[in-house]
Amino acid sequence: MCGIFAYLNYRVPRSRRDILQTLVKGLQRLEYRGYDSAGVAVDGPGKDNGTSIALFKKKGKVKALDEEIYKNESVDLDAQLDTHFGIAHTRWATHGEPSAVNSHPQRSDKNNEFVVIHNGIITNYKELKKYLGSKGYEFESETDTEVIPKLIKYLYDNRESDSVSFSTLVERVIKQLEASDEGAFALVFKSIHFPGEAVATRRGSPLLIGVRSQYELSTEQIPVQYNRGDSTIEVEEEKNFRNRQGSINALHSVHDGMAVEFYFASDASAIIEHTNKVIYLEDDDVAVVNEGKLYVHRVKSAAGDDPVRVIQTLQMELQQIMKGNFKAFMQKEIFEQPESVFNTMRGRICFDTNEVTLGGLKDHLKEIKRCRRLIIIGCGTSFHAGVATRQILEELTELPVMVELASDFLDRITPVFRDDVCFFISQSGETADTLMALRYCKQRGALTVGITNTVGSSICRETDCGVHINAGPEVGVASTKAYTSQFVSLIMFGLMMSEDRLSLQQRRLEIINGLKKLPELIKEVLSLDDKIKSLADELDHQKSLLVMGRGYNYATCLEGALKIKEITYMHSEGIMAGELKHGPLALIDKHMPVIMIIMKDACYQKCQNALQQVTARQGRPIIICCQNDPEISKMAYKTIELPHTVDCLQGILSVIPLQLISFHLAVLRGYDVDCPRNLAKSVTVE
Ligand code: AGP
Repeated sequence: MCGIFAYLNYRVPRSRRDILQTLVKGLQRLEYRGYDSAGVAVDGPGKDNGTSIALFKKKGKVKALDEEIYKNESVDLDAQLDTHFGIAHTRWATHGEPSAVNSHPQRSDKNNEFVVIHNGIITNYKELKKYLGSKGYEFESETDTEVIPKLIKYLYDNRESDSVSFSTLVERVIKQLEASDEGAFALVFKSIHFPGEAVATRRGSPLLIGVRSQYELSTEQIPVQYNRGDSTIEVEEEKNFRNRQGSINALHSVHDGMAVEFYFASDASAIIEHTNKVIYLEDDDVAVVNEGKLYVHRVKSAAGDDPVRVIQTLQMELQQIMKGNFKAFMQKEIFEQPESVFNTMRGRICFDTNEVTLGGLKDHLKEIKRCRRLIIIGCGTSFHAGVATRQILEELTELPVMVELASDFLDRITPVFRDDVCFFISQSGETADTLMALRYCKQRGALTVGITNTVGSSICRETDCGVHINAGPEVGVASTKAYTSQFVSLIMFGLMMSEDRLSLQQRRLEIINGLKKLPELIKEVLSLDDKIKSLADELDHQKSLLVMGRGYNYATCLEGALKIKEITYMHSEGIMAGELKHGPLALIDKHMPVIMIIMKDACYQKCQNALQQVTARQGRPIIICCQNDPEISKMAYKTIELPHTVDCLQGILSVIPLQLISFHLAVLRGYDVDCPRNLAKSVTVE
């Protein structure tokens, strides 16, 4: 998905080369999100800061853009710019093919008077384009974004006086973009008419601002004012995940000529190497940096608006998001699972007393226990985490549990009531479909619970309460460690709900003991990597791969097949083994590659029956089974033998061989494991 990065240095001398390097580096940190072209805008060409803007845009990778910049001799790379604002963008095509002209920054005119970078979609762009066209503004791209720089130039050209500020113009622009309820955007503007000034705003797409000063920053020193109408409102320091009860530190206009740098980005991974002090903008905020000071204005205020913007201290370390010795982030993340799963449980399960406490939910537990049903909503892998845990949640909560794909849930206009509790599962916390479903459920009065991996994300902020899965940053587009941590988080929720149910104590103990051993068992599964790689070698020439199982392992089949199709581009299907004779059996012959998951649980015999049905049609499946299964070891099939754990946790172990198979197949095929074609890490459009 598109990525935004922008850098403003105020009274911090930087050469144009340094600035371009910072911008390109920022884009590289966002590459994992998926994109197909990139661009930057800086002041050009010489030292006369801000009187013209140089644009560099290129289809393809950020590396190609970087090369393009240095081929260009018209700008003086060594010029020192004491105060400067540069913007950069990676584009994932929605309107118009990947090309330099369609990539961002988009511009107002041939003189680049206004340039804009944009994440999201403007749904009323056709009407705006028609109007601006009728006023003589010429369009050069096929993008929806281009209406924005054209519109701001139109408003500038027709301003009532010379004193109209940059932020006022932006506010007027976004009022026009509000014409469509479905429009989503995060925008950053730069202009030759307002040199050294930055304006950024968002609605529906994330945007954050990092601040770095030469001096040690405390909350009081960060030059921030938050204005609504005439009043200066406090900025609050983060005290906990929900950011609701922190102490308030009044911030006044303390900043006077202090050297300072600002970083704007669509996610924290592009900022963290520069500063860990960040402010997440809310929908309808307009942030302005002028003369080194940051102001946040509200375009419109509504009852219930949070009157505070939080300066958060990010806990993430750069090395946490670096690849280390692994070939790909995905591989690193698969191998991190013993620790990521442990971190999900850390401080929440007391293995001495068998108590489970999810701090973000405990104040709402009574309300949750009174509800009439649980609805788990997500997309892709996050949806699968719901499928994987549905059965055990029904057992432990004794409530009906629905698991819904966010997009379908909205399409159906599903009935939701005040006594429903709706869980929104999302690694990124920014998935547009899941976010829309959250707003839909909130409107209907349901209690909303977020299960996310990204502190400060939209889902995390907009839910009533939640659980942070603590899996650490997940960079590979293919989600791996987030899945196992979402899985464990949902299990912990079930354990918390059943703490006072006498009849469930035996079962709870069994699961808690299973969770305790889980990190070690995951390590055992990972030690099978060489064997799994040799099975992948044998599958490399295949065009299709079926993954079958049932009960607790049906979700593993769906998730394994998603991993395979996502990064190997091989057709793959997760099949509920009970459905075999209702259709899929017709696919089986000696040529069709099949993986079957047959674990020692209540479905064992039924899975054996499915195996018979497959082998009777000359299928030669690879079987993922429990270690030393006498029934299976006497057969002559290839196996991946896994340690045995409690039935409802087995899916955490059985998904790992499928994650590894997909990784090895993608490497064998020479594909970009972390950035599969056509896909993005964070899907912020519906
Ligand atoms: C999984 O490998 C995918 N990349 C995708 O299905 C992902 O899980 C889905 O887009 C939901 O993302 P989220 O968890 O960030 O909401």
